[in-house]
Amino acid sequence: GITRHFEFNVTYHNVSTLCKSQKLVSVNGQFPGPTIHVNEGDQVIIKVTNFVKYNVSIHWHGIRQIRSGWADGPAYVTQCPIQQGQSYTYNFTIVSQSGTLWWHAHITWLRATVNGALIIHPKRGAPYPFQKPDKEVPIVLGEWWNANVEDVAAQALATGGLPNISDAFIINGKPGPLYKCSSGAFVLDVIPGKKYLLRIINAGLNNEMFFAVANHTLLVVETDATYTKPFQSSAILITPGQTMSVLFEANQPQGQYFIATRPYSTVPGAPFDNTTATAILKYKGSSASSTPVMASLPDFNDTGFATKFDNNVRSLPTPQYPVNVPQTVDRSLFFTIGLAVKPCAPNKTCAGPNGGRLAAAVNNVSFVLPSVALLQAHFFNMKGVFTTDLPDRPVIPFNFTGQPPRNLVAKVGTRLSLIPYGANVQLVLQDTSLLATENHPIHLHGFNFFVVGKGFGNFKPSDNSSFNLVDPPQRNTVGVPAGGWIALRFKADNPGVWFMHCHLELHNSWGLETAFIVQNGKRPLEKILPPPSDLPKC
Ligand code: C2O
Repeated sequence: GITRHFEFNVTYHNVSTLCKSQKLVSVNGQFPGPTIHVNEGDQVIIKVTNFVKYNVSIHWHGIRQIRSGWADGPAYVTQCPIQQGQSYTYNFTIVSQSGTLWWHAHITWLRATVNGALIIHPKRGAPYPFQKPDKEVPIVLGEWWNANVEDVAAQALATGGLPNISDAFIINGKPGPLYKCSSGAFVLDVIPGKKYLLRIINAGLNNEMFFAVANHTLLVVETDATYTKPFQSSAILITPGQTMSVLFEANQPQGQYFIATRPYSTVPGAPFDNTTATAILKYKGSSASSTPVMASLPDFNDTGFATKFDNNVRSLPTPQYPVNVPQTVDRSLFFTIGLAVKPCAPNKTCAGPNGGRLAAAVNNVSFVLPSVALLQAHFFNMKGVFTTDLPDRPVIPFNFTGQPPRNLVAKVGTRLSLIPYGANVQLVLQDTSLLATENHPIHLHGFNFFVVGKGFGNFKPSDNSSFNLVDPPQRNTVGVPAGGWIALRFKADNPGVWFMHCHLELHNSWGLETAFIVQNGKRPLEKILPPPSDLPKC
């Protein structure tokens, strides 16, 4: 590999959409932000300078960060934020991963506008394990608010209630012509007979998305920067945080075709926007004024499609990337994840149930970020910042997906799990019906994990016998089904402090978060390195 240098300047940038002009926080005056292209094996050095009034940190979502945890980016987890006028240089090497990833701000809700694609091409000279595309195109799915997103988030947190939903979905920054006053669409020009690789990222804050290209079948070849057994699909499902590469051939008659996306939602009665964002696939020589062919997307609540699609995703073993699923388990964890209520501030009434504050929790602990970074506290042995007593399983078990228990109140705390270096971890994530069952895209920093099992209802020990230990999908973000569970396994071979959280920004800010401390191993290459000298101070 070689060393690649990038400069990210966080600045304000004026954008008009839906007939509103908005001063966005952006990187290098671009929205979505700049695409980073690197090859596997490269060292990547990105100097981030903050010119806005908000504190900033940037996360390289899905990068394994082997022994480079100081470059991972979540604010108050691996670093203090970069304050106005300051810089921090992220430095990491791309080891054993290839495909589509992305980067985004990892503090408050800033990632709504501070995000972009991070594309890892194969090692120089190495082929793809699928047909080489003629062209590759990043597709960033997002959400747009007419209001300032930081204000939307801050207001919801202050009242303890629900925030306003977004005003539009967007594809590469544009809502497309099905919205009134949309300000245009992203246009992909294609040449008949050529093959295209769409590198799709769900950068949206709070919605899982269906995505399709009218009249074109998609071949899924990679998810979360791991190759998959190729399979065809008329549409894909992609949850916030996930990435996916799909191939298609421009094999239709000349004309224009919609590229379309809209949400998948299962929560009865929850406020959501079911409008469709579009981009345009334009065949060479076709008239820009011709009406595009509409794409057909699954219904907004089509769990049958969602389940079938997810079940089709399987790891592709290649000589370079053997599929090493841990066959034994050293540490078995069972976490309930879900919505909850936590007490309002003293002498106040909040907008949640019984005057409480809407919250979300892991094993009934609603996570509180500390005021110094957890990785610093761990590395320098600072006392009183966190505890390592997150329960391995629910303290008071209940019928997780049945009639909810009456005592809903979550505990608050900064409670982590301590994992010995090299342990094979099995983690079952169980959604709960406290308040409402809901699909939770759970993201783990610092690792890819294998999704070995999945089901609806409550996980039972007998489900262990049906796990796929041969070719399970490898991911960094997995959608735990509403009212169901996911079982995942990973080898804890990367020392550091690794955040795990729901990638719905709403749930994340309500406390659906925790972190693993993976201890140092015995050998020198199994230990955390000291922090860089420019690590921001709190
Ligand atoms: Cu994509 Cu912790 O985030």
